[in-house]
Amino acid sequence: TNVESGKVKWESPSNIALVKYWGKRENQIPENPSISFTLSNCKTITELIYRKKAGNDFSFDVIFEGKKNEAFKPKIQTFFERIEAYVPFLRDYHFTIETSNTFPHSSGIASSASGMSALALCLMSIEQEVKENVTLSAVERSSYFNQKSSFLARLGSGSACRSIEGELVVWGKNASTESSDLFGVRLAEDIHPNFKNYQDAILLVDKGEKQVSSTVGHKLMFGHPFAEKRFQQAHENLAELKDVLISGNQKRFIEIVESEALTLHAMMMTSMPYFILMKPNTLQIINKIWEFRAKTDANICFTLDAGANVHVLFPEGEREKVYEFIKTQLVAYCQNGHYICDTVGKGAKKL
Ligand code: PMV
Repeated sequence: TNVESGKVKWESPSNIALVKYWGKRENQIPENPSISFTLSNCKTITELIYRKKAGNDFSFDVIFEGKKNEAFKPKIQTFFERIEAYVPFLRDYHFTIETSNTFPHSSGIASSASGMSALALCLMSIEQEVKENVTLSAVERSSYFNQKSSFLARLGSGSACRSIEGELVVWGKNASTESSDLFGVRLAEDIHPNFKNYQDAILLVDKGEKQVSSTVGHKLMFGHPFAEKRFQQAHENLAELKDVLISGNQKRFIEIVESEALTLHAMMMTSMPYFILMKPNTLQIINKIWEFRAKTDANICFTLDAGANVHVLFPEGEREKVYEFIKTQLVAYCQNGHYICDTVGKGAKKL
């Protein structure tokens, strides 16, 4: 290409799965379909500065929250190796990757979804600037752009492919929605007003390093005694959840979402080796949520990722009452009283 240098900048959010992705094959192909709410406040902001270089190696520096960072380099190196066939200009440039998160690094909130999607989007913007002879209509260009960004993000971290767009994204081939194993697809159907602007309060129970990396975690599903049944269940839950999102059935939403979270943890408890990733305070919070729901009929539920933190989900209309409950009854179980208020969002943005 003839382009000597330039820079691009994107912000990309985290997402929270309602039907969980757990188990993958070669090339980050999921064993089962998943669906997530795209978040809004928890995001990564990444600027990619590129400059033509000689030589045929990958060359990049990482600056994380203003400081040169070596720790992220191996992950990015692996990412570059996986995607270079699709973005051949990678070896033509030196990259400075300047990145920061809106949430604290040591919060136990995985930054891989927001981080990898932001980086993938930056690379796609560079592709647009350096690639010659592409004549696409505006519509073709935007769907190509989103799809390929999601495709690349998937190769960085599976769940990252669900962070490009909002508000609900499906990833993994299934019979009930338009979908692919290769990239996330925005749920096209109009969802019920009950699920618009849904709220997610992320209670930070344990801010430490993940006890089980997701790479190790997904591998636990190989030869897992309940794997096939679980993958089938994810298909069924996704199909029903889609109907629920359209019909507005909050009771059923709560049942499916909580069951998915507990099933994810059940898979970890029943694998070999086995893990318990909840902490005592995770259970305290779950029990408090169940008590509160029984007493008040609030449409509040929890979900979990592969860790101890609790995502508390509830409708926008119940915000005041639920935050009052969180402040008076749940904050005590959070590490240093720390929690993050988020809402469902519309996806990544070019800056
Ligand atoms: O994207 P990964 O490989 O870090 O896997 C994440 C898996 C879960 O967060 C536990 C579930 C999900 O669907 O996001």
